[in-house]
Order: sequence, then structure tokens, then C-alpha cells
Amino acid sequence: MVKFFVCSFLFVIAACAGNAYAEAIQGGVATTSSAHPYVVSLQTSDGTRICGGALINTKNVVTAASCLSNYDVSQLLVGVNNGAKTVKIAASGFDPSYDFTTNENDVAVLKLAEAVSVGSIALASSAPSSGASGVVTGWASGSSLVDVNVSVLSAEECGSGDYKYSEDEILDSMLCGLATNSQACGGLAGNPVVVNNQLVGVVSWGYGCGNKGNPSVFANVAALRTWINKEVASL
Ligand SMILES: *[C@@H]1O[C@H](CO)[C@@H](O)[C@H](O)[C@H]1NC(C)=O
Repeated sequence: MVKFFVCSFLFVIAACAGNAYAEAIQGGVATTSSAHPYVVSLQTSDGTRICGGALINTKNVVTAASCLSNYDVSQLLVGVNNGAKTVKIAASGFDPSYDFTTNENDVAVLKLAEAVSVGSIALASSAPSSGASGVVTGWASGSSLVDVNVSVLSAEECGSGDYKYSEDEILDSMLCGLATNSQACGGLAGNPVVVNNQLVGVVSWGYGCGNKGNPSVFANVAALRTWINKEVASL
């Protein structure tokens, strides 16, 4: 009984953090899928986008583990080329050490049912330095793709107390990003975060908008790369 209460309570906190993100990005700069061919959506069969993701080769997508936990993944589709093409998911896995109460290790890998050759992005092998310029790509209202420029913050800086997060919330498997346009707001989990043409993160959670004193929190791809590569090989 006590255990049930604690779990429910923690689940409410996790759900609140996740819900802090508005679905559509406001204040981004219009872009195209040809500028970011690796960007994909995870969508339900009726076309509702639930998350973003990134093609890391012709058959595998990296997204957030939190994107898969509420769905029957076999019923989801991957939208390529801003949804012009949809592809079925043949297999998927999320990091077994993903913790939905803290969002630690919030990463998942999908294997597509068919190869797509639109383009992909390399996994970062080291985390970007704090202050690096990053770009988060996602959807504004409707289906328009937009970029949000962010200044990347290390886990240490993000949890330093200068922002809305405490040291024990921002773990080593995380990075943060503060929108450089203070009006930019929102986005979906799984949206790719790129620095120097490498995937450094996927949007995971956050308090508020990702702007002003509320950076968004990303899964740190360099920290999770060993698991990602192992999963790609085994799916
Ligand atoms: C966003 O960042 C890119 C590359 O880092 C830069 O070329 C572009 O000018 C920036 N856009 C804005 C609106 O700051």
C-alpha cells in the first residue's frame, strides 16, 4: 500500500514534468526537411505526432524512452521527410536503466521495417562543451518544421542552482539547452539536438518552455552512445 502510494506520487511528478512541454514550438525559425533529413516523427496511425526522433543510419532511429512507454510501439509509424512517407517499426528497445521518475537514461532505438535513404546524422562521441551552439528541430503548429537555437549547458552547469533545476535532478545522462530566442517555447520529446552536425541529444523533459531561466533537458547522446550502438547491433 505504502509502495503503491509512493509510485503513484512519483508518477504524477514525472507526468507533470513531461506535460510542461507544449506540443507545438513557438518562436522557432522555419526550416525544411532537406536541411535536416535525419529528423523523423513518431506518430499514431491517425497521423498524430507524439514525438520526434533522428535517423542515425538507413534503418535505425534514436528517440526518447519516454516516447515509447505509453504506446504499443508496433502500432506507431515513423514519419520521414516531414511525414511525406511513413514507415513501420520492426523492432524497438529502450535503455533498461531508463527511470521514468527521474528520466535518467531517457533513450530508445527503433529499427525500421524498411531502409530509408534520405540521410542520417552521426552520434556525438563526446558531449559538447558548455556554451556550445546547438539546434533543436521540431514542429511548429501545423506541419511546419522549425529550428530553435540553443546554448548547450553541461549537466553540472544546468544543476548548479542558476536555473530551475537542482543538482540531483540533472544527472550524467542529461544535458540542457537554453533557447537563445527568449520567446522560443515548447516542442516534443525525442526532438533531435545537433551541434556541429552531430547528434548530441534528444529532448527529454523540462520545467516550462526551454527559454529564459528554464532550459530544456536532453538525453546526453555521448553518455548513452555505448548502449545505443549495442542496441542497434542487437535489434
Ligand atoms: C542559429 O544557429 C545557426 C548555427 O549555429 C546560425 O547560423 C543562425 O544564424 C542562428 N539563427 C538565429 C536566429 O540565431
